[in-house]
Amino acid sequence: EKGGWSSFMRKEVAEQPEAVAKTLLGRVVDGRVVIPELESFGDEELRGIRRITLIACGTAAYAGMVAKYAIEQWARVPVEVELSHEFRYREPVLDEHTLVVSISQSGETMDTLMAVKYAREQGARTISICNTQGATIPRESDAVVYTHAGPEVAVASTKAFVAQIAALYLFGLHLARVRGTLSAEALADQLAELQAVPEKLEAVLAESEKVTQLAHWMADTRSVLFLGRHVGYPIALEGALKLKELAYIHAEGFAAGELKHGPIALIEPGQPVFVVVPSPRGSAALHPKVVSNIQEIRARGARVIAIAEEGDAAVLPFADEVLRIPLAAPLFEPLLAVVPLQIFAMELSQAKGLDVDQPRNLAKSVTVE
Ligand code: BG6
Repeated sequence: EKGGWSSFMRKEVAEQPEAVAKTLLGRVVDGRVVIPELESFGDEELRGIRRITLIACGTAAYAGMVAKYAIEQWARVPVEVELSHEFRYREPVLDEHTLVVSISQSGETMDTLMAVKYAREQGARTISICNTQGATIPRESDAVVYTHAGPEVAVASTKAFVAQIAALYLFGLHLARVRGTLSAEALADQLAELQAVPEKLEAVLAESEKVTQLAHWMADTRSVLFLGRHVGYPIALEGALKLKELAYIHAEGFAAGELKHGPIALIEPGQPVFVVVPSPRGSAALHPKVVSNIQEIRARGARVIAIAEEGDAAVLPFADEVLRIPLAAPLFEPLLAVVPLQIFAMELSQAKGLDVDQPRNLAKSVTVE
């Protein structure tokens, strides 16, 4: 039920702190990750994994793209992300040392289900990240790690997305401990960052008024571009997807580094561009590069809306609007930066008088291939 909310999406956006908190609940004990559901995967087997393939569709695939950066950094194992419907039709190289992790809110997406079945037939081991108890994909997998976001009704995914990242991060940190790739201290630091996410999400939600105004001002916009880099790149893709799904506006996300290789040709005066700015405290090279991307597009007349962490003053001279997110370690920024983009798409949809919970032509769970 919607309770007092005007739409399920509004309710589900607001439930994101809880979605992450419940996904972490009971799974961090004394500075360690405890996931009893993964008992069928012994430590020896987890140490023997040579490659991880994350498979999913839509928003869930972007959660996978975010997790790729974290899992590779923490557990030092190669991770690839593939759309489920592409995976199965290209004869992927699979064996018992390949772990295929599917990500699906519904656990019923036919493309993902068929990809999981295919992976098992080819001898790979499979884990399902799923939000729906007893769904088909978990039943077809060797193990399941449930996200506890609660039922998600709005077609466009929001709280399931942040819960998927939280579950994948737990898995990545578990793997890192088993494989000995993170010191106890580093592991504890990352877990503390993860546990701080719900509170930071509350802070982002409390600051959403500016995003709402922006969406109202931009209700006639015909095209919006999104730029991001590193973990901000999948967030740019997700921001664009949300806007297409909810507001039927042409939107594209790009890796900021790719700008000069083509997309910059799209920039003309007045073109709105959201830029997910990496933390200046992260990789020393990335922040100045993205700031210079902002200067490049601004010089060509783009209207820049920067999503930047509190206190990052470098973006101020060049951005038309700055949406702030709280300080977080770089790998945890996507969990916060996605929220203004969700709210922007939702508010713009409502400003246009559209059905935000049931966008045209879409279904919550796509059970055909
Ligand atoms: C799409 C939904 O069709 O399926 C998206 O509209 C969703 O919101 C995607 O991300 C994948 O769904 P699921 O249930 O497999 O996560």
